[in-house]
Amino acid sequence: MIAAIPVITVDGPSGVGKGTTASLLSNHLGWHLLDSGAIYRSLALKVLKTDSEISDVIKLVELAERLDLNFKSVIGEPTLVYLDGECVNQELRTESCGSIASIIASIPEVRAALLQRQIQFRQAPGLVADGRDMGTVVFTDAQIKFYLTASPQERAKRRHKQLKNKGIDANIRALEKEIGARDARDSNRKVSPLVPADDAIIIDTSDLSIDEVFRFCIDIIGKAGIKANLNR
Ligand code: C5P
Repeated sequence: MIAAIPVITVDGPSGVGKGTTASLLSNHLGWHLLDSGAIYRSLALKVLKTDSEISDVIKLVELAERLDLNFKSVIGEPTLVYLDGECVNQELRTESCGSIASIIASIPEVRAALLQRQIQFRQAPGLVADGRDMGTVVFTDAQIKFYLTASPQERAKRRHKQLKNKGIDANIRALEKEIGARDARDSNRKVSPLVPADDAIIIDTSDLSIDEVFRFCIDIIGKAGIKANLNR
């Protein structure tokens, strides 16, 4: 039997450092990277650009199935996301895109329409996948499943700092509220809710630096006998 291409999943709510951790792990291992949130955000952006109704499920599925989306990644650099041939990295990161992504992500038909796109990222020598349901739905047979958490206050503080670095002034209380609303929606939805997989390793990153989280993960990966791809 041919062994399945290995996958490491990194799930959790926003602001826990899972995107950065997943990216560091994929660089370290020389594996592919899937930022599944970027797929939901891209669909949200398409909905905004086409003035589509988020209550029109048929239209949303049609947009999801036809989404002209490409990822360009170079090891060690941020992945570039192209929607309809245009680089949309900046636009995807807005709060409105995140909120609409979380609303449409609660629709089962939309999730089903985007599933195959995510599975296709599983390519040799391996994949690090970050999102909400990577370990529970999309890659249930992943070799290692990490689930990152952090207190809502700490996550709001991190988001505030990120925005400030971009020259955007935001109210920390409002951010805490927004994060809370998105978490509630992601955790309480009927399909693929945000929950750790039964076999996930849970890491509370509230008092840890990104480097500490990365080292903790690398230690577990090493103990599992997973080696970096040196042929890159
Ligand atoms: O991770 P990110 O903040 O970019 O994700 C945006 C939204 O997309 C999340 O709030 C969530 O509702 C949705 N999402 C999801 N399943 C994933 C990844 C993201 O439902 N695997």
